[in-house]
Amino acid sequence: MKGVFITFEGIDGCGKSTQTSMCRTWLEELGRTVLLVREPGGTKIGERIRELLLDKKNSSMAPLTELFLFEAARAQIVEEVIKPALSEGKIVICDRFFDSSYAYQGCARGLGPEMVSRLNMDATGGLAPDITFFLDISVEGAIKRRNVRGEEKDRIESAGDAFQEKVRLGFIRAASEDGRIVTVDASLSPDEIFAQIREKIEALI
Ligand code: TYD
Repeated sequence: MKGVFITFEGIDGCGKSTQTSMCRTWLEELGRTVLLVREPGGTKIGERIRELLLDKKNSSMAPLTELFLFEAARAQIVEEVIKPALSEGKIVICDRFFDSSYAYQGCARGLGPEMVSRLNMDATGGLAPDITFFLDISVEGAIKRRNVRGEEKDRIESAGDAFQEKVRLGFIRAASEDGRIVTVDASLSPDEIFAQIREKIEALI
């Protein structure tokens, strides 16, 4: 069976975790082997890079340093986890992938989408997802959802609402440029969102 690579994207608090786990449960019920991973992280080295990236004490981190750390964690998870799983015919679901760098570092931090797109390709050796779901929600909607969860904000989540707005515009721009990205209205109920996602994946597997 052919491996399939599915990624989920969106601003912080868009509801990705709910959808990735609904997706995993459904695909496993269909008898597929599923690997669910997250970025940054998913490997021993990647989890250490994640700590550096999200630690609020690292408030002086330069945007370029941030970008290279995300790309470094990505190179590692692609080599160590994603490529081998795909070649074994597994379905790999990734909670965030290189479109996050495009939106967060390329657009919101202002490093420029062109440079980030180039680095994305270098870090993954050209591996792109088969399909990407962009869960689109307003910044206010995401804040409400995050408040319900009551989690403490990490360094990047603490960058403020205007930053999140730029991230959202970055994802909208990425989706307008690449047909691989499917935009889903994330203000709907989890079941309604999942129904749309399931339909697209059914057409793919
Ligand atoms: P995480 O706790 O995984 O956030 P979420 O649960 O919202 O996915 O933290 C990852 C943070 O890193 C999140 O704020 C998005 C950000 N990020 C980037 O800025 N660039 C990237 O390339 C990736 C993968 C994540």
